[in-house]
Amino acid sequence: MNPMHEQRLRLDPALRRLRRETRLDASKLLWPLFISETAREAEPIAAMPGVFRHPLARAGELAREAARLGLGGVLLFGIPARKDDAGSGAWDPEGVIPVATSRMREAAPDLLVIADVCLCEYTSHGHCAPLDGHRELSRQGALESYARAAIAYARAGCQIVAPSGRFDGQVAAIRDALDGAGFPRTAILSYAVKQASVFYGPFRDAAGGAPAFGDRRSHQLDPANAEEALAVAARDAAEGADLLMVKPGLSALDLVYRAKGAFPSLPLAVYQVSGEYAMIARAADAGAFPRRGAVRESFLAFARAGADLIITYFAAEAAREGWLEGE
Ligand code: PBG
Repeated sequence: MNPMHEQRLRLDPALRRLRRETRLDASKLLWPLFISETAREAEPIAAMPGVFRHPLARAGELAREAARLGLGGVLLFGIPARKDDAGSGAWDPEGVIPVATSRMREAAPDLLVIADVCLCEYTSHGHCAPLDGHRELSRQGALESYARAAIAYARAGCQIVAPSGRFDGQVAAIRDALDGAGFPRTAILSYAVKQASVFYGPFRDAAGGAPAFGDRRSHQLDPANAEEALAVAARDAAEGADLLMVKPGLSALDLVYRAKGAFPSLPLAVYQVSGEYAMIARAADAGAFPRRGAVRESFLAFARAGADLIITYFAAEAAREGWLEGE
């Protein structure tokens, strides 16, 4: 082979564009948003420089921005005014997520709104499930609460609910509840492969959902295990998950690749989580590398590995600043 053969299509920008196998576009990006019931203006999140807790009053504006940028959708997390032991704010029909969802759907009717379904932002103890009489997490209680929350969010107009507690059986419980309540069209994005990860640390600061005692290793997956992760994803698929997710992203690219291979017909999302955001943002701030290049490279890795959708705090910035096209 001529020694120039490999290099020939790399010699100038036009040839590199032609040669490029992976293309990014805004419709692949999902933008996670923290919506606060009490914030009066956008509150900076110390652990995630550049990310904010948005006031409920701005929900419509955010929706219009996401739609204008052509993003694939938004993923909503609620920060309620009050927490209690049961996490009842999660399924309150007048709660922060139902209100934000209906305002967003009204402001931008074509926008995809995904509502995260979990209790940790709503419980006074910060766990993703209610506690039983022995300070143990109640799986049954979690499933019942998720079902009620999913119905409240579907009624408010979200097209997808995304249960993130990772309690076994949550997809089936939510599917049954949605169908029973007259919402057969609402889809479920399962946090199928959700590892117990330190990279969620900044999120807990953002959403005020750090557990007051214990941790999440009883229900989230051990990062040491790949076979178990795929088995759990298979069960979620069998229970009726419409889309699957792998989380975190860069440290679980093997699972993105394998999940796409194992479930080729289900759209696969990868979540570039809060700690990954913080690593890139802080390293770029410190001058280690350009923010734009790091974000683009991470997105390319997700897409190459097989992710159809990328959930990322960089979504709006990357689309707005033209980082997706590349050079
Ligand atoms: C709630 C939830 C968490 C994340 C998404 N949904 C926190 C957790 O499980 O501890 C993490 C997202 C991120 O770190 O960006 N269960």
